[in-house]
Amino acid sequence: MPSENVAVLPTNKLSKDHQLIENDMLAVDHLIRQSLHSDVVLINQVAEYIIHSGGKRLRPLLHLLAARACGYSGEQHIRIAAIIEFIHTATLLHDDVVDESDRRRGKSAAHTVWGNAASVLVGDFLYSRSFEMMVEVGSMPVMAILSRTTNVISEGEVQQLLQMGNPALDEAQYLQVIESKTARLFSAACELGAVISGGDLAMRDAMARFGVLLGSAFQIMDDVLDYTADEEQLGKSLGDDLAEGKATLPLIYARMAATPQQRERLDDIIQNGKRESLSEVHALLLSTGAAKMAQRKAELLIKQAEKALLSLPQNFYRDELLGKCKFVVQRGS
Ligand code: IPE
Ligand code: IPE
Ligand code: MG
Ligand code: MG
Ligand code: MG
Repeated sequence: MPSENVAVLPTNKLSKDHQLIENDMLAVDHLIRQSLHSDVVLINQVAEYIIHSGGKRLRPLLHLLAARACGYSGEQHIRIAAIIEFIHTATLLHDDVVDESDRRRGKSAAHTVWGNAASVLVGDFLYSRSFEMMVEVGSMPVMAILSRTTNVISEGEVQQLLQMGNPALDEAQYLQVIESKTARLFSAACELGAVISGGDLAMRDAMARFGVLLGSAFQIMDDVLDYTADEEQLGKSLGDDLAEGKATLPLIYARMAATPQQRERLDDIIQNGKRESLSEVHALLLSTGAAKMAQRKAELLIKQAEKALLSLPQNFYRDELLGKCKFVVQRGS
């Protein structure tokens, strides 16, 4: 074989794998558009508004990569990826009402355009459409994971609601809430890749563990970015967590590192949900090193996530999943 062919081979292989995922993603987007349709005009308007505003499509991509990393060669991963994005989008429609957030994906949040009722009800439409799509997949193990996950997300959101304005929330309680409200969907996306591939229990566990660690790191970074990001790049307003009196990890660490006077002041801000104190709290997060500490916690979880993934056979898709680890701790949006 001529030597130049030997040199070309790995690049060709790489681009073929890459192309496969790109095509999968296009198929997911196509199915999402198709599955949005309803005869009720308002549902189409609101659902298309949020779905077509973009978003990173991180969770469906994780599912596609996880499935391919486990050697999957069927068609069901496309539908499951679309279902996962529907569930995620439903939570966003509800979340912006609950959090009274005005910006989402660089645009006015849907509830500021159509009102809270329409936003909540179209969120319900997306949830229930995702269940119709699960039935089309026709697999009880898939159904079991996804239905449990949506249930846990709701539990996480309610647990968080109960902690609003509580400055004494500790790290363990915080980690529990973010695992439920965010990380479990990441975990389901990854584990389902192994499930549909017929992977053994070890493979399923490794993928589920990878997902939950990645998802927790993702939410910690989201909570840091709520104070430190560039608003334009983030596509959301800064300070939404503070306005709600949400004691996220940066605040929990700031309280630990603060002087008694600073802590008293911070507690008052958390109890009363004062958005106008955003720059004051931001300065405290920097001076106490709390923002950095939270970033380091996310990095620690990411290291564990990488380790979980290394138990799986090496291939292009596993390496792409590892690449998502870097993205999560370096992202600005
Ligand atoms: C937002 O998730 C909700 C959180 C769990 C922090 P994303 O940041 O993935 O939202 P989109 O889909 O890219 O808009
Ligand atoms: C994620 O938490 C909520 C969901 C799981 C829906 P946030 O409330 O921080 O998410 P953003 O910042 O509004 O996207
Ligand atoms: Mg929110
Ligand atoms: Mg929220
Ligand atoms: Mg947030």
